[in-house]
Amino acid sequence: MLKGKRILLGVSGGIAAYKSVEIVSRLRKLGADINVVMTQSATKFVTPLTFRSISAGPVYTQMFDEPKSWNIKHIVLAEQADVVLVAPATANILAKMALGIADDFLSTVLLAARSPIYVAPAMNHAMYHHPATQKNLKILRERGVALIGPANGFQACGTEGDGRMSEPVQIAEELVQFFTGKQLMEGQKVLVTAGGTREPLDPVRYIGNFSSGKMGYAVARAFHEAGAEVTLVSASVDLPVPAGVQAIKVLTAEEMYHEVMKAFDGQDIVVKAAAVADYRPAVFQGQKIKKKSQNLNLELTPNPDILLSLGQKKKHQILVGFAAETHDAVGNGMEKMRKKNADILVVNDVTVPGAGFGTDTNIVSFLFLDGRRIDLPMMSKLDVARELVKEIAFLKKVK
Ligand code: CTP
Repeated sequence: MLKGKRILLGVSGGIAAYKSVEIVSRLRKLGADINVVMTQSATKFVTPLTFRSISAGPVYTQMFDEPKSWNIKHIVLAEQADVVLVAPATANILAKMALGIADDFLSTVLLAARSPIYVAPAMNHAMYHHPATQKNLKILRERGVALIGPANGFQACGTEGDGRMSEPVQIAEELVQFFTGKQLMEGQKVLVTAGGTREPLDPVRYIGNFSSGKMGYAVARAFHEAGAEVTLVSASVDLPVPAGVQAIKVLTAEEMYHEVMKAFDGQDIVVKAAAVADYRPAVFQGQKIKKKSQNLNLELTPNPDILLSLGQKKKHQILVGFAAETHDAVGNGMEKMRKKNADILVVNDVTVPGAGFGTDTNIVSFLFLDGRRIDLPMMSKLDVARELVKEIAFLKKVK
């Protein structure tokens, strides 16, 4: 997808420099040629050898190194790049860019660059909100420099706030969009399930669960934002259907099973965010069950496992499951993913504050079939959904 595209990555000195290694790895998997320029401070966080090994290309750190060929390196690098990315971009490098200071190799290359420039700021929240930094960012924006993030969340200094570097997948996808000019999910058909199913006992009662449907609805919205054609199979929720999304309402696990199986063949991606009841009452009582003084025993019978059935049936589709766990979220999640043949499983420990049912935030990990795992900090459910969309887009490209 990025074959023949030349990306110049500038790495300045922040702890997020370690995450830039993953950006290089992702872009290289897509075929890009990457040159890396590191500031002296950046080399204190990550070694040039790390970037050289991952990029399989040169890493520049010194202005006055003995040249290997007779050209002026900072000018050639600046001219050759199709796009320049600075990640992490510290408050210092942003200030230098804004003022046109060229006192080391990276700042000199940036001053000479004529190609589009992206910056992914990364700094402590007080530094980010300082009027000097805000003014520098404004100057850069007006000059056409594109900003990626920063995100809000846990910071290396132990506090929380704005200034965290955006996740590598998001940064890599911004560049993919720059090169392809296409929306991330254009032409993709996506089926999302959401909400908690209800299993009727009698005409006035049901067995249900605490799912609010917020996560699934956020997933549907994020796919629609990214240009996909979205169908939402929704069990009972108290939420408005996101604009542009086609919704099919269901009540029980069996109804959801039938709707999902019917639509599956035409889909490219299926995300099962619904909390599906594993059991339903063995017998539906046609009349209201009357109160008695003895114990009442209910007999339950298993519902179909929708994700398992999809996993057995899938051809080209990417299948994503969710799992809310109360202990060993990752271990249980990995096992579930393999058993159900999902490509990604999103797990969260619902006992942790800020994660789980009814909240607007979530703390999740993405587990992948190849054993990879990404732990995200606490973020809004919509942001989790947007991260998921990007991960799926990336998976589709490298699959
Ligand atoms: N799921 C499903 N059909 C079911 C049960 C679950 O499609 N009958 C899906 C959920 O939508 C979710 C994933 O499977 O994407 C994991 O759900 P979970 O309830 O955690 O899995 P279970 O296999 O039911 O495991 P547990 O024993 O922990 O309930």
